[in-house]
Amino acid sequence: MLRMCNSLLFAVLLATPMAAQSLDSLLARMTLEEKLGQLNLLSANGRASPQQIQLVRDGKLGGLFNVIGAENTTPVQRVAVTESRLKIPLLFGLDVIHGYRAIFPIPLGEASSFDPDAAEATARAAGQEAAAFGINWTYAPMVDIARDPRWGRIAEGSGEDPYLGSLMAAARVRGFQQNIFATAKHFAGYGASEAGREYAETEISERTMRELYLPPFKAAVDAGVASLMSAFNDISGVPASGNAWLTDTVLRREWGFSGFVVSDWTSVQELVNHGIAGSQAEAGRRALTAGVDMDMQSSIYVDSLAALVRSNRIPMAVVDSAVMRILRAKQRLGLFRDPYRARAAPANAELRAIARRVGAESIVLLKNEPVGRGAACCAPTLPLSKSGAVAVIGPLADNKEEPLGPWHTQGRAEDVVSVLQGIKAKVTAGTQVLYAQGAAIEDTSTAGFAAAVAAAKQAKVAVLVLGERGDMSGEAASRSSLGLPGVQEQLLEAVVATGTPVVLVLMNGRPLILEWASDHVPAIVETWFLGVEAGNATADVLFGDLNPSGRLPITFPRVLGQVPIYYNRRNTGRPADVNNKYSSKYIDVPVTPRYPFGFGLSYTTFGYGNLKLSSARARVSDTVTATVTVTNTGSREGTEVVQLYVRDMVASVSRPLRELKAFRRVTLKPGESRAIDLPIAVKDLWFIGLDRKPVVEPGTFRVYVGPSSAEGQEATFECIP
Ligand code: GLC
Repeated sequence: MLRMCNSLLFAVLLATPMAAQSLDSLLARMTLEEKLGQLNLLSANGRASPQQIQLVRDGKLGGLFNVIGAENTTPVQRVAVTESRLKIPLLFGLDVIHGYRAIFPIPLGEASSFDPDAAEATARAAGQEAAAFGINWTYAPMVDIARDPRWGRIAEGSGEDPYLGSLMAAARVRGFQQNIFATAKHFAGYGASEAGREYAETEISERTMRELYLPPFKAAVDAGVASLMSAFNDISGVPASGNAWLTDTVLRREWGFSGFVVSDWTSVQELVNHGIAGSQAEAGRRALTAGVDMDMQSSIYVDSLAALVRSNRIPMAVVDSAVMRILRAKQRLGLFRDPYRARAAPANAELRAIARRVGAESIVLLKNEPVGRGAACCAPTLPLSKSGAVAVIGPLADNKEEPLGPWHTQGRAEDVVSVLQGIKAKVTAGTQVLYAQGAAIEDTSTAGFAAAVAAAKQAKVAVLVLGERGDMSGEAASRSSLGLPGVQEQLLEAVVATGTPVVLVLMNGRPLILEWASDHVPAIVETWFLGVEAGNATADVLFGDLNPSGRLPITFPRVLGQVPIYYNRRNTGRPADVNNKYSSKYIDVPVTPRYPFGFGLSYTTFGYGNLKLSSARARVSDTVTATVTVTNTGSREGTEVVQLYVRDMVASVSRPLRELKAFRRVTLKPGESRAIDLPIAVKDLWFIGLDRKPVVEPGTFRVYVGPSSAEGQEATFECIP
């Protein structure tokens, strides 16, 4: 209901004839310099500088970002609406990616929940908190699909799949825009950076762009996102921030997007580096005429374009269109009526409760085997008993900074519950909790190993918390190797050698190569970077108060040499066959991943049966419903993510072996069975045909329903003309 009201409010504001007329009359009164000023966006350093305030007074600034706190935004807004000639209010932006001060799981972690409602909840909470601190515009959600874990920004997105990525994008837009404007970024194809190298060139066919990278942006636009941010990268030689096909043809003519496009940092100026502009002014002309409305940080629009407009190198109509998009956005946000937007901050306890719940939902159980051997074999290692000495070891065990992740806005280490703290709060009184750091995250010293080994020897179980620093993923953080940094692997081996059962808790912003751990450690838990409630959420799962339900939104390779490796690949003419030398594979590793997309274990088990389709034949306009019976075959309640994939068996273009088209989170009690319906709208099975248009062709479609992209019950239906 709130969501509808919110959208209704925006719609009413936009529709008001008086409002539209007043904007037209405002535009008519603007000088060229004031028009270009609305297209100018600068970063502050916590507070606006005197020079920036003067630009506001002179009408040469449309917005500021990185102004922190209402005590700093309000005075600048007052200058804009009382001292400038036309009194146009400012946008105040900030990278509220996964929390303002109350930091939630990184988006890649949150995507592991396969729970769009959870993503909407954290985005709404983050937007609400940010609005209370003077922010009215966030540069989130980042919706870039990524297949290469070397790329650090894989941490900021929702993984490798466009269907999951689209649902998460729309959910985060809805959540943020309950209180502030959202920005879908980075438009587009940034995740295809070659070799996972940050800011690198991309080679993306139009088919792959439209089938893989664009859908989450389209979902964000359909959810009413206020703005998009144009990316740094080129798209097969044409930079995204000077690409009319992208920001005009696709975004406005095909999708009907009526919001505005802001460049990423100095990506307008960087068109000179790309070699498609010989001067800054030319770079500005190329970007503005391509459809990039607002120039972040390079000041080219405001400093260099007036002369080009006056010499008719840029039509005034192009400037006016961009300015109107900014003015309409400010009106949609209500800034002309209420420029200061005073808002109350949500209660911290409420924010932390959301962080803890979503944090636990984001945890993926990758391995959970018994420790005993043979007949002495006993229960799986997890969940742990709350009594009995436990050793907590590793550079991330009592770390309060790294759980905030790579981009944590106003998050503070002091707010974070470490894993050690979470475990201490969880175990029964009197239970011995031993701690040893063992090693640093990234250095060569093994001096701490002895204490770690000693602690493990005194304990019933050793919890090793290993992984990356927060700044080893995120922007400008591509890694050429994907192993545990430093000597952490050696620390793990030393502790495993004690014979004490080991639980490996991973804290990282990307898939890691876990060859040794996967073969020698009985229990492995992927926790990503979970934010302020990391320790409590992790302890909730380790000790069984919550049954893990996370599933991987990104494939984990066996070895670096497999990268890029992803589930929705095509079959090739020589599909991998271990018995055929001449087939698509390596001579030294399997072609299968270490852990596949959609994979995750539970403390219970689930069985699938009786997959049925509502019809064996369907037209494009029909919906085929897959019904499968899922049973909790274990001894405790658990949540399964039932996943439905489709393969278009024969088409005019080779299609992926599997494409995720539906999923449902289902909670079942021990022994409980439930028939789960998963609808497939046949029209959603489109691909880009030989004529470069979306098409659903008649033919056989195979449906897979199961617990991951690697297994499932099968059925087929015929799409008929
Ligand atoms: C950056 C990032 C972008 C961010 C912007 C503003 O360089 O690429 O994601 O929103 O600058 O901070």
